[in-house]
Amino acid sequence: MALRKLVAGNWKMHGVSADLAEIAAIADASRRYLGVDVALCVPAILIERAARAAPGFAIGGQDVHHAERGAHTGCTSSQMLLDAGARLTIVGHSERRDAQRESDSDVKAKSTAALSCGLAVILCVGERLEVREQGAAVPTVLAQLDGALPERSASGAELAIAYEPVWAIGTGKIPTTAEIAEMHAAIRAKLVERYGDGGAGIRILYGGSVKGSNAAEIFAVDNVDGALVGGASLKASDFIPIVEAAAGV
Ligand code: 13P
Repeated sequence: MALRKLVAGNWKMHGVSADLAEIAAIADASRRYLGVDVALCVPAILIERAARAAPGFAIGGQDVHHAERGAHTGCTSSQMLLDAGARLTIVGHSERRDAQRESDSDVKAKSTAALSCGLAVILCVGERLEVREQGAAVPTVLAQLDGALPERSASGAELAIAYEPVWAIGTGKIPTTAEIAEMHAAIRAKLVERYGDGGAGIRILYGGSVKGSNAAEIFAVDNVDGALVGGASLKASDFIPIVEAAAGV
């Protein structure tokens, strides 16, 4: 079953007021591709202005705290993201798993809380290079999913999984299409095991060095239902060709 593709940009720690015009340009250009869902996940402090600069366009956060409120200095709740105008959030990005020592159970708590609040979730998984070299990439990613998938059942509109091999992020290296196909098929089987028929409708994005020049090849792989894009999402001129590839233009 071919799912409607989702192309989401992760701006990471990039973006100030001067970049709002770029967000508006990406939103405007994306409207031409009616068959593709497009979103930008921006720094929390930029969400409200980004949502105003791009009315009707999906703006998201890059992380969320699992608690509704409380003594959590510097953190952002799901309700705060929604209130600022976000419709979705990334959870479990490898940069946070590394730098903030987030575990699968932390990611599960975040994804469960965000979904309960009405935010859509992009849940990231992915192996390190040494794990791939040991031939353990698939079981490692499936174990991450076992630990991090939300408790409640989720539909395709609410939850997407992003497979982002850590060694492919920001490096210009990407797995072979056979490696992507193997991993995405394994993730699909896990989602169906976990959520039954609903698991067939959950989108599985690929992330890691996606560019306009390689997007069409990646999108042609079975069970690749979109992309999570870092560096190439910062400029409309780099990002829109990826959206175009998703639209099959
Ligand atoms: P790059 O597209 O810059 O490799 O980043 C991928 C990523 O981490 C998206 O979340």
